Amino acid sequence: MKISVIGLGYVGLTQAVCLADLGYEVIGVDINKERIESIINKKPPIYEKGLKKILDRVVSRNLSITSNLKKAILDSDISFICVGTPSKKQGSMSLHQLEHVSKEIGMYLKLKKYHTVVIKSTVVAGTCEENVIPILEKESKKKFPKDFGVLMNPEFLREGEAIEDFFNPDRIVIGSSDKRSLQTLRKLYSNFKCPILSTSFKEAEMIKYASNAFLATKISFINEIGNICKRFNIDTNVVAEGIGLDHRICPYFLRSGIGFGGSCFPKDVNAIIYKATELGYNPRLLRAVLDVNRDQPLKLLEILEKKGLRHRKIGVLGLTFKAGTDDIRESPALNTIKELLMEEAELYIYDPKAMDKVKRIFPHLNYLGSGQEVVNNSEIVLILTEWPEFKDLDYGDKLVIDGKNVFNSKIPKNYEGICW
Ligand code: UGA
Repeated sequence: MKISVIGLGYVGLTQAVCLADLGYEVIGVDINKERIESIINKKPPIYEKGLKKILDRVVSRNLSITSNLKKAILDSDISFICVGTPSKKQGSMSLHQLEHVSKEIGMYLKLKKYHTVVIKSTVVAGTCEENVIPILEKESKKKFPKDFGVLMNPEFLREGEAIEDFFNPDRIVIGSSDKRSLQTLRKLYSNFKCPILSTSFKEAEMIKYASNAFLATKISFINEIGNICKRFNIDTNVVAEGIGLDHRICPYFLRSGIGFGGSCFPKDVNAIIYKATELGYNPRLLRAVLDVNRDQPLKLLEILEKKGLRHRKIGVLGLTFKAGTDDIRESPALNTIKELLMEEAELYIYDPKAMDKVKRIFPHLNYLGSGQEVVNNSEIVLILTEWPEFKDLDYGDKLVIDGKNVFNSKIPKNYEGICW
């Protein structure tokens, strides 16, 4: 079975290299020339644990990279579409890239006997049946499921752990009404030791959104409990441990802090709110999840305010939305920096992976070469990403305000946690 993967962002690149590592012949397709060059030269275009090693193994063995979508479709039996579905201004999801790629694929389907198209991009319920399949049918003048297959196979990969998550998934979800292509994909995943759930298209699309919405809700829940605990002078981490031991709650996603960021939770919760509202339902709980999350980074500033320290020399440790990635999309750290700049604070900044990206947004700040330099130059230090190296800095007597719960021992002398 020959595979093509269209869109080599975080999801597509992981999908492509991991399938190649399993031994499949894979063609990766992207329109970004720089990205293509970088992958061909075995240089990961993103920071992702383990990616470099796999690239070294599979590039020029059984993974080829191209910008030629036509050739990729003609030379493969099954295509995974992994293009982005970013947020539009009002929170709805943009289908622009997905529709564009579907149109092109539709044209090439004309030239083939049978082909299977798998959607991995995150899309709201109804998109496969109402957008993708009609476009493919129109452009190819062929009929689903007789002449080509379509499946919805949502991804549940965490950035930073994407390769580990690919090889060890909790479950695989495949939505379709098409038995032939369903069998093909089940065969492709047959060596995975996890439940494979077959659903309708809409159910699969919704499972993805509901998963992200639930995890985001868990985080806002523990942050709300954390904000209450802080007023009682209670350590939320102990409370999280206590509730997480209940198997119905489970210990994961109960880390309180400055809230969730990234390219998925904020975008997906917004998209589901938008769609639900359009359908006449007011999703109050999900709106509250975003409300709590929006205010969470401000808790750091409240601590500064209470101590009368807002205008001091402030050190910022960490810029990415979490550790283990160079991704700064929707990072709570960036919102915190914006707020501090409005207060005209003097900022000293360090992140091990994302400085260049942030320099493009805020070119005139003081970027330093290490976490220790930031500590040495500042009067107060804010920890905004849980990079392990921040645990081992010498903070001396400096006030450390921790938004990410970095320390489990060796807590600095002058320390305050956001919810603990
Ligand atoms: C998330 C989901 O975990 C993946 O399953 C999903 O595939 C992915 O979105 C997606 O839709 O593509 P990701 O955004 O990479 O993955 O990151 P997470 O590890 O889930 O963290 C998201 C945010 O929540 C981060 O800002 C993190 O710091 C924060 N978080 C996470 C907390 O504040 N507390 C926690 O207990 C856990």
